[in-house]
Amino acid sequence: MFGRRRIEYKTNAQLRAMRHAGAVTSQALDAAVAAAVPGVTTASLDDVFRGVLEEHGATSNFLGYFGYPAAVCVSVNEVVVHGIPGEQVLQEGDILSIDGGAIVDGWHGDSARTVLLGRPDPVDAELSAVTRSAMWHGIAALATGTHVGDVGAAVEDHVRKVSGHRFGILEDYVGHGIGSKMHMAPDVLNYRAADRGPRLRPGMALAIEPMLVRGGIGTRVLEDEWTVVTTDGGRSSQWEHSVALHADGIWVLTAQDGGASELEPLGVTPVPIPEDRP
Ligand code: MF3
Ligand code: CO
Repeated sequence: MFGRRRIEYKTNAQLRAMRHAGAVTSQALDAAVAAAVPGVTTASLDDVFRGVLEEHGATSNFLGYFGYPAAVCVSVNEVVVHGIPGEQVLQEGDILSIDGGAIVDGWHGDSARTVLLGRPDPVDAELSAVTRSAMWHGIAALATGTHVGDVGAAVEDHVRKVSGHRFGILEDYVGHGIGSKMHMAPDVLNYRAADRGPRLRPGMALAIEPMLVRGGIGTRVLEDEWTVVTTDGGRSSQWEHSVALHADGIWVLTAQDGGASELEPLGVTPVPIPEDRP
């Protein structure tokens, strides 16, 4: 995908600028998640998300991306990613991921969360919890590891440790570098691979976004050329954050606290991006 292109290394000032796109992305997702209740359409979540972007003078990086028609992807049940918001009405028991991003001053943010509606199926709840914790273990590996491939190894190890082989880790879609574009080098796999990938270096910003499924990991794209479903109809979950690496540590750009509350229990303390010294 983006693996062979050059990596964009950001200065501290540029990484600090990326915090604004991250903060708007996070607030817009807060609003979209709060609006996700049984009886509303998936299109209404797109409206809510766009409203927050507008309030902050931010623009959408999803809208118009290879012709994509919305500011968020809303992926319900067997839809894994890239679900287009529309007239579909959310139901009790649905599991959905809301994925969105923002551009502020030319810098991109990208983040996704899974939401469970009503009284969820316990296995759906576990699927989302394991996907979420796998994302945090992958993020922690950016602080403790040496190569981009350490993320995938940490994600896979965590998933196998807590849930054995009950959940599949999607391989068809991966995380990515982010910065002056939404999708940049390098690819960030969510599983262990022989190639450890590029070395983790200050100035990188990476979107960590594992996708887990209850059944097989095969996927298929629907006729709209966007919606990705599992081949066997199994339900799925996705969580995503954009993360900055700097000389003193890591900072989760799309989390209001830089990831502190979730990373501290994993032994990682996020470090605010320092101002460049003149
Ligand atoms: N944000 C997705 C990702 O996490 C990509 C969405 S592509 C779009 O990488 F076209 F749907 F916007
Ligand atoms: Co992404």
